[in-house]
Amino acid sequence: MGACHSQEREPWETAHKTEPSCQAWRLVDRVAAARTARRANRSTIPLPLAPGSQVSAHMVVCPHAARETFAEDCDALSKSRGRCAALTAVNGDAWRAQRPLVAKALGGAPSRTSRAAAVAVAADMMAQLRGPVDAREVGLRVGTACVVAAMVGCRDAALEGAVAAIFAPSLARAHYRATPAEGARVDAALRAAGDGGLLAALRQECAAAGFEEGVALDNAHRALLAGAQTIAATLCSALAFIAAHPPQKSLDARAAVRETLRILPPVATLPRRVETRVDLGGGGVARGAWVVGDLVACAHGGDAASLRYDPARSADGDAAPWGVGPRSCPAGQLSTACVAAALEALDARATWRLARKRDGVGPDGSCRFLEPLVYARTLAFPRPVPLVVDERRLPRPPDM
Ligand code: HEM
Repeated sequence: MGACHSQEREPWETAHKTEPSCQAWRLVDRVAAARTARRANRSTIPLPLAPGSQVSAHMVVCPHAARETFAEDCDALSKSRGRCAALTAVNGDAWRAQRPLVAKALGGAPSRTSRAAAVAVAADMMAQLRGPVDAREVGLRVGTACVVAAMVGCRDAALEGAVAAIFAPSLARAHYRATPAEGARVDAALRAAGDGGLLAALRQECAAAGFEEGVALDNAHRALLAGAQTIAATLCSALAFIAAHPPQKSLDARAAVRETLRILPPVATLPRRVETRVDLGGGGVARGAWVVGDLVACAHGGDAASLRYDPARSADGDAAPWGVGPRSCPAGQLSTACVAAALEALDARATWRLARKRDGVGPDGSCRFLEPLVYARTLAFPRPVPLVVDERRLPRPPDM
């Protein structure tokens, strides 16, 4: 994930359409593509492969072996980033020192009031939505505002503007990177923000652990970037799925969020550099290679029906939208609460539908709005996702 879920680019980041049957885990050598052909001669990596798995020069298709390695081995696999001081980028001892305190700030008790602020902002913004809207815009505005509210305890226009400037094109483009000036604007807005929310918790935790002020700010900055685009993509897709599959009874917003994240995990890949030779079961992966866990393929394997939206489904297979292992997302509760609150607030006073019939459910049971989506490291919506929001004339009828 690097500095945030999406900010940094790596050589393997070639955009590809979502392919439900594509390989589940990729092992990507760090050398340039020009050398790949030569390497194809020594393509066999001795792994205990599950039935149906395949191996090529630069790909390993064995979700279970790779998953185990990600889950257990933090020392052998790193994100190999050292340029920023935040949790998302540091490795080894530096990561071990920061992880508990950032996880506590983002996901533990201190986050409850921040979560309440974020949820209130999401609900409030959705209460104002009516008429024709682009679900991408809604996701972006609400996602940014509620992550900012969680971070500083209230709405903050300067910080929202600074984060939105980075992410405005992001729901349409899978490849992008914040410029230094955009990053500096987020830093300045964070420094000027009041001392509430997760930022206050981060400051406290970092100070108690003997870190400098900059570490708390860096973590706040990276968490804002990590959270805004992912919440935006989740809300955008959840709105479209619900529009295509209006609930028969009351909306179960949390189930809708879970099913949306299962079908469209906003973070596509978990890239790791092999620091010391890694044993993927029976075979080894050499130091310096990149191992890339592909969360999209993990979610879908070879099952074509897995793209069908069904919030009542009881199992989600290998889906892991929050990541795998010790570096998985510490803000799952916060994110789910924000998206669910936004959906509930809209559902309480309105219905919404896809403006274009062709975006709806196709003959294979999957939604057509999925077709133009692109994955690099994150999910992008290259075309608008138009919705029409209609005010309910009568309150939502109670469940029978
Ligand atoms: C729907 C929303 C979100 C999704 C799907 C999501 C997904 C993920 C995933 C897959 C990872 C693991 C990346 C890796 O292992 O390389 C991750 C890590 C992380 N996420 Fe999220 N995330 C979401 C929202 C947020 C929010 C709102 C925040 C903060 C406010 C956040 C903060 C972080 C941080 C700090 C890490 C790094 C953890 C570490 O390296 O130990 N995420 N997230």
